[in-house]
Amino acid sequence: MKFSSKIEACGLSPMRKFYPYEVAAKAKGRKVLHLNIGQPDIETPQAFFQAVRDYDQPNVPYAPAPGVEVYLEAVRAYYASIGISVSCDDILATYGGSEALQVALTCILDEGDEVLIPEPFYPNYDTFVRVTGGHIRPIPTTPEEGYRFASRERIEPLINERTRAIIITNPGNPTGVVLSPEERRLMVDIAKEHGLFLISDEVYREIVYGGERPASMLEFDDAAENVVVVDSVSKRYSSTGARVGAMLSRNRELMAQAMKICQGRLCAATLDQLGSAAMYETLNEAYFASVREEYQRRRDAVVEALEKLPDVRFSCPEGAFYLMVTLPVDDTEKLQYFLLEEFEDQGETVMYAPGEGFYGTPGKGRNEIRIAYVTNPAELRRAIELLGLGIAAYNERKRG
Ligand SMILES: Cc1ncc(COP(=O)(O)O)c(C=O)c1O
Repeated sequence: MKFSSKIEACGLSPMRKFYPYEVAAKAKGRKVLHLNIGQPDIETPQAFFQAVRDYDQPNVPYAPAPGVEVYLEAVRAYYASIGISVSCDDILATYGGSEALQVALTCILDEGDEVLIPEPFYPNYDTFVRVTGGHIRPIPTTPEEGYRFASRERIEPLINERTRAIIITNPGNPTGVVLSPEERRLMVDIAKEHGLFLISDEVYREIVYGGERPASMLEFDDAAENVVVVDSVSKRYSSTGARVGAMLSRNRELMAQAMKICQGRLCAATLDQLGSAAMYETLNEAYFASVREEYQRRRDAVVEALEKLPDVRFSCPEGAFYLMVTLPVDDTEKLQYFLLEEFEDQGETVMYAPGEGFYGTPGKGRNEIRIAYVTNPAELRRAIELLGLGIAAYNERKRG
């Protein structure tokens, strides 16, 4: 059978690639500590389950294509609570942030069109862009500059007649970078001046550690035509399996185009939208503050443990629950195979996401890894200790 060249060009998730090796390590009786997958262990709020339990209709019908009214209203009210005025017409309910990205990109990109994305980036962007026939032009960053990308000199030379959009992730996965108000303004200005969509993936909005208020690109009223926001309950309410998100934009033409896809896929899951509406209605700043504090404890544990490892370099993450780390090894994929197949300390080993899968430029990121800090501080400290021991054993074996 022949498959489309678009899907053939996509890769498998760098986070899942080592799964068979993990299974084999566990079969040998090893305990594997995870720094590799962004699946929060924080409990999903009871409000979600209660709303689903309280559902008393005789069947589960399709929801309206743009979303269940109470969900759209709850999202609207949530944005109002962070100082942003949107109407329910500016919101489409989607299957997580993932579908919001796919809908937006499908509406915007033609074969051969380009999207600028700062690298390293969330690897699924690559799949979502490629299946439209478009491709990513990476905005280069460096570990030395803490992966910051918002500069005119860096971005404008990459814009050409095929450029249609810029995707930014704020707060950043995998870098933990949080844009300053000036950097956000600059990104909006660049998008406006060059007639580009600015797709702002804000699924980690509340997870910022510097005391700043949760920010959104929707703050910029003057960029109504350019800004598209990708949002989700997955990380905000630790409910990744609820599969509820939103695409938001004040660009009426874009929303009308997006509606064609939303009608085609009929609706986002009815009960999951009701559960999500209940979370939005009952859990706000006090809840976000407690979640933020928990992640900050975890971030601090990881940073403290990493500081003890020789020749390991990183910038302290400002948001989300990830960071990129440069290791003193030739190739972090090879190190990962070694950790799963050969290494153990007291029956334990560790997994992370090798850095290369987060880059669009071939060969970049080979000595970097991405760490997700989504388990308790004690486990994170032990995982980083294992990483240090593993690096030493790997380099020793290479020398020997
Ligand atoms: C940057 C970013 N965007 C989007 C998503 C997709 O999230 P979901 O589809 O669960 O809302 C993720 C998930 O990890 C992510 O890290």
